[in-house]
Amino acid sequence: MYRGVCVSVPLLTLLVLTFVVPMGHACPRSCNCYQANEVHCTFRSLLSIPSGLPPYTRRINFGFNSISTIRDSSLAGLMKVELLMLHSNDLHHLPDEAFKDMKSLQILKLSYNKLGEISSSLTFSGLTSLLRLYLDHNLLQHIHPRALLQLPSLRLLRLQGNRLHQLHPRTLCTLSLLNTYYFSTLRHLDLSNNSLTTLPKDTLATAPLLETLVLQANPWSCDCRMNWFLTWSLAHPGLMKCPSGPQCPICASPNSLQGQGLLEQTDPLCSPPVIASPGRETPLETELSEIQTSESFREPLGAASLGLSDQQGNSVDLVCNFTNSESQDIAPPPDLSLSSFSPLPLALTLSLECPVDKQSYEKLWRILAYYSETAVRLERQIMLSKAPALAYRYRQAPETEGYYHTGVQSSVKARPLWLLQPAISIQLNRAQSNRHRVQLIYSTRVSAHPDPASHPSSSSPTSHPWVLISTNKTTTELAAVVGSKVELSCPLLSSGNPKVQWVHPDGSKLISPSSSLGGRMQASTSGLLLQKVHLSDAGIYYCIARAGKDVDVLPLRLAVEDSSFPPSGEQVGPPVTSTVGKPVSLSCKAFGSPTPHISWMLPDGNLVRQGLPVSGLHFPQGHSQLRAGQPRYELHYKKKKGLAIWRKER
Ligand SMILES: *[C@@H]1O[C@H](CO)[C@@H](O)[C@H](O)[C@H]1NC(C)=O
Ligand SMILES: *[C@@H]1O[C@H](CO)[C@@H](O)[C@H](O)[C@H]1NC(C)=O
Ligand SMILES: *[C@@H]1O[C@H](CO)[C@@H](O)[C@H](O)[C@H]1NC(C)=O
Repeated sequence: MYRGVCVSVPLLTLLVLTFVVPMGHACPRSCNCYQANEVHCTFRSLLSIPSGLPPYTRRINFGFNSISTIRDSSLAGLMKVELLMLHSNDLHHLPDEAFKDMKSLQILKLSYNKLGEISSSLTFSGLTSLLRLYLDHNLLQHIHPRALLQLPSLRLLRLQGNRLHQLHPRTLCTLSLLNTYYFSTLRHLDLSNNSLTTLPKDTLATAPLLETLVLQANPWSCDCRMNWFLTWSLAHPGLMKCPSGPQCPICASPNSLQGQGLLEQTDPLCSPPVIASPGRETPLETELSEIQTSESFREPLGAASLGLSDQQGNSVDLVCNFTNSESQDIAPPPDLSLSSFSPLPLALTLSLECPVDKQSYEKLWRILAYYSETAVRLERQIMLSKAPALAYRYRQAPETEGYYHTGVQSSVKARPLWLLQPAISIQLNRAQSNRHRVQLIYSTRVSAHPDPASHPSSSSPTSHPWVLISTNKTTTELAAVVGSKVELSCPLLSSGNPKVQWVHPDGSKLISPSSSLGGRMQASTSGLLLQKVHLSDAGIYYCIARAGKDVDVLPLRLAVEDSSFPPSGEQVGPPVTSTVGKPVSLSCKAFGSPTPHISWMLPDGNLVRQGLPVSGLHFPQGHSQLRAGQPRYELHYKKKKGLAIWRKER
């Protein structure tokens, strides 16, 4: 008996060894591994990812548990996993580089969790093979604009059922070229059931492979900010199953377009607020908006110096800026269906804006007048200088088929340097040129490898700055009484150290933080504070936020009133009378796009904003009606540029 035991000890040890050593790599307890490469752990009330997942696993399902955190090491070493399901869990946050070893992962399902934000550019680091990302039905309010740049193979993104209010124009971009141009390889995108009011044009213009797009169940603002959309959708038919299907995006504002299809709006406008007068329910003329777009505040892409001459002996020197229009510079878009690791050929067409005087305008005209229909093609010759700035001589290429050949030569200095390609062409844009400013069209071809995704070492916020003005609950229409103070706010999301500039309606500029107008105007990080408001302070303000070359612009409208008394001669509405103790309802109908906000100026000189209660007055949310349980009022109204204000007095 003893002998028998003695004999079986080494055997037992051997048995234990065979089970324990690979145990760390065998099927985790509480999971099933029906097949060698698969781990199934659904409905197990797991609070975290079990440790010891076998490194050869290809498919993992942790769906329907209570996993609330992913630890840094939870998924380490899982280089073979192709499918990871983490849907219907309790995830609030994804740590940086949580998936960094999962270079084979193709499908990542994070649906039905509680993620509030994709907060870092490193969240999805390492997922170079990821094809499908499911982030639907979370609580997402913000996605870091560089997070998807880690996913150069991404084809499908589901974001429906989140709380997205706005997207940075580059949020959906999955690769960048020359650190300047951003593109998205997405084919399928679902943004339905969010809180989006507008989409920047570049979100879709940078996605040439898009095949399906779902946008319904968002409160779309059908104004000039979306006026690119119809044109875009006509150029990309069939992506939305519209206009017939239930998937069509519907306008939530302005009021006059509520419930109509966004795609039925042929030319959605922005128009200033106007108060309807009795007997005239709609404004007569819709003034076009005087609001400038953020394009007009964008920094140039670079600069060039040209020393042009021809065989007739004409010569002229120009100093120009390359205007930056991002996605429009590259036409046609590169073929993103190629491998994300091979170089992409880009056809670039850029605008050069060159200020000129009368003399150089005439000389330039003599050299380039031939080349407004077809461009002059130039070939790179010798290097003229290396430092401080690289410059080459270019010479006109031999022309065939009877095109002009006037022996054009040019020295060219340009930034960024990749614009100095072996072949360039220059064309005079006659329609956009005048005696003060000439526009040239500069075209070339560049072959560019996609930029490497950021690594923790290179992802300091300063290396790829970005900025976004939060429009979530941001008041863009304000009213103030002369002599009072008012604060215009411009809350920012950014990679850090954004620069804010304010433009006053009179055109003067103020860089934050500082003050001007004798200290009356103070710009701080939170906004622009105006003390002792003057009538002349009324108008459109711009908050311009910059981080590196990224820029975002928010126009704000300020109306200033001196008293509730209408100036003599101004039209006064019909009186509304009531008796003491009875409620009276004063109504005010305003038109405009986006939907105007209404403020009331009371006879005592106070202003009331829509939605705010005041003593003795009840101002119901969502109604442009003022109810007062007070003695007799007479109503006056007036129409004003800027914010519309009803006047009333005793
Ligand atoms: C939008 O999402 C909410 C919450 O997830 C859901 O209750 C609602 O049915 C969804 N609506 C549509 C139109 O999908
Ligand atoms: C180029 O742009 C910069 C920045 O906007 C501006 O200061 C400069 O005057 C411009 N130069 C030319 C030649 O247009
Ligand atoms: C949007 O506004 C709500 C309410 O003020 C706030 O709770 C939320 O954090 C804001 N979201 C963002 C992304 O700023």
